[in-house]
Amino acid sequence: MREQQLQSLLQEMTLEEKVAQLLQLAPAFFEGAGSEGQITGPLQGMGVSKEEVHAAGSVLGIGGAEEAIAIQEAHMRNHRLSIPLATMADVIHGYRTIFPVPLAMGCSWSPELVEQSAAIAAKEASVSGIHVTFSPMADLTRDPRWGRVMESTGEDPWLNSLYARAFVRGYQGGQDGDLSQDKHRLAACIKHFAAYGAAEGGRDYNTVDMSEWMRREFYMPAYLAALEEGCEMVMTAFNTVDGIPATGNRRLMREMLREEWGFDGVLISDWGAVKEMIPHGVATDERECAYKAIQAGVDIEMMSPCYIRHLQELVESGEVAESLVDEAVLRILKLKNRLGLFEQPHRGADPEAERRIVFSDEHRQAAQQLAAKSCVLLKNEDVLPLDKAHRVALIGPFAESHDVLGPWSCMGVREDAVTLSEGMAAIAASHGMLESVPCSLEHITEAEKERAIEAARRAEVIVLALGEGSEMSGEAGCRADIALPSAQLELLRKLKELGKPIVVVLFNGRPLDLRVVDEEADAILEAWYPGSNGGAAVAGLLYGLDNPSGKLVMSFPYAVGQVPVYYNCFNTGRPQNAPDAQERYVSQYLDIPNEPLFPFGYGLSYTTFQYAQATLSDERLSMDGKLELAVSVTNTGVLAGEEIVQLYIRDVVGEAVRPLRELKGYRKVKLQPGETCHVSFDITEDMLRYHHPDLQFGSDPGQFMAFVGPNSRDVQALAFILTP
Ligand code: BGC
Repeated sequence: MREQQLQSLLQEMTLEEKVAQLLQLAPAFFEGAGSEGQITGPLQGMGVSKEEVHAAGSVLGIGGAEEAIAIQEAHMRNHRLSIPLATMADVIHGYRTIFPVPLAMGCSWSPELVEQSAAIAAKEASVSGIHVTFSPMADLTRDPRWGRVMESTGEDPWLNSLYARAFVRGYQGGQDGDLSQDKHRLAACIKHFAAYGAAEGGRDYNTVDMSEWMRREFYMPAYLAALEEGCEMVMTAFNTVDGIPATGNRRLMREMLREEWGFDGVLISDWGAVKEMIPHGVATDERECAYKAIQAGVDIEMMSPCYIRHLQELVESGEVAESLVDEAVLRILKLKNRLGLFEQPHRGADPEAERRIVFSDEHRQAAQQLAAKSCVLLKNEDVLPLDKAHRVALIGPFAESHDVLGPWSCMGVREDAVTLSEGMAAIAASHGMLESVPCSLEHITEAEKERAIEAARRAEVIVLALGEGSEMSGEAGCRADIALPSAQLELLRKLKELGKPIVVVLFNGRPLDLRVVDEEADAILEAWYPGSNGGAAVAGLLYGLDNPSGKLVMSFPYAVGQVPVYYNCFNTGRPQNAPDAQERYVSQYLDIPNEPLFPFGYGLSYTTFQYAQATLSDERLSMDGKLELAVSVTNTGVLAGEEIVQLYIRDVVGEAVRPLRELKGYRKVKLQPGETCHVSFDITEDMLRYHHPDLQFGSDPGQFMAFVGPNSRDVQALAFILTP
């Protein structure tokens, strides 16, 4: 349809029909529904009439192609103007083929593979009748108590931006893609705007408050990157921003998102967030919620009834200009048009293709590949890789658990996920040297313990699969104590008494407090929630068919009392390690170190890499010039391996304080034993820009440091000067 036709369609719509276009409901409300869809919040008496459902604009979560077709067919019959429904769902890290959780994907440092995962998710979801995914989540996270860190790609704004772009490209097919033609793509929705990841105390839905400077410098870049990549939609956050819930925040949404950033796509509220302005204490009733949300520029209200019940009356009374409703409706119609729904209301939905494409071997292989790249080897004292000829006891709650998909696994079916024991058995099969002993997650019985110890006595190596059940993570999955459940730590200590090498494999969605594990285990492999073929990927790493190469994108705290602890922090006026530092009056804890247990960028390999002395091509960088930082990296071990060489920069003296390190680039190099490669980075002035106190973006001439190394801690430093 041409824009003009959409305008005419809008003219034909009654005010009621327009308001209904702004309503999003779960499938259970619709004729033709066979499922209830995904319900992530209370369905508190929506009180919508049949007519309103018939005129509704979009549906949240669909149970597959047949249901999507049935609902759309009935809807087209029922809608006076035959305006198709848009179907939206949380396709977060795969649809039916589940990829590792986003935090794990982040540790792959592979935007290419992440893009591929999103393309696969889009294909599976679109043949199953979905048009829009509520992904990617680009919330920067620094607090592992927050359950939703598993949905983010970590604590670095630059890396998060690369990933946000990769997800959007994968879902939407790139800037040149055409969603109306390419029915195997989805429209993407960046969320949660803004700064949802900074909830105080790491408690979900809690207050967020920070300076605009901090927000722009760290929290906003990844959302903006997604929009620059053409992301079609934005979702509001549950939290407050400058004292006002994001969903009713005119300044944030109209002035920043729409006017300053030029976003003209659809803005959707989070689940029930319009009505939550009442408990937030900024609206008396639903009517006021509707008023505030439409003024702020929210187009679709997800799962609360404020618009549908009150917007018409607000327009008729003259309190809300009808033009505000019109512009919201037009944005929704335009999205439907870009999706090609007016011509093909069923779009990609195709039960036959669904059976063929969804959860195909090819897709599962891709998920396995990304899982292998996402695992992070945190410790290895000559235990890994395992020798197939060794007798291994695989023990613990995740030995045979299918709970490896993570809490946002959409249509993923747990029972289909490859467990660690299946993965290991497939490799060790011919040797028959694997004994698997599962146990409970939080309450390990005496009998379970005894069985574990007996098996461990018979073994040469113990592989202990520990972690958090997926319900301990994800939305509303916050924890104040982020150590492993105490029963698991006790089991670890008991097994340690046998004096045999112990490899701990972790299945979880957040950086954990691993102090005890680090003390007791000989090797630690962080496997996260690795997805559908996770068990096979992890087993491949344990037996050395693959060499771990993942690196952390979020710091693992030494203790929860340090949180937030993140690598790109400021120096303070009394840094702990300054040459003239006093013993006491410096910025420190008396009882624990300042540093995390495992820093950002950290991850080991079965081989070793040696960095030669790095060089800078010059000591001075001009505004339009470039410096080259060069370093040779050699594989000094006996196995081939992949290293992620990282470049960080520090602006030593700025107008505002600057982080001690900021990631500015990385290179992945694959090296055979004994092989050396020369890695180089260009440093240019644009990499040195930041938001100044007046919010202008620019660089400060003066002193800088460049750092290169295998993680954010173990780096070589080189000084240079930016000349005016
Ligand atoms: C979550 C969103 C999600 C929405 C729809 C909310 O509870 O915060 O991330 O997209 O539900 O399921």
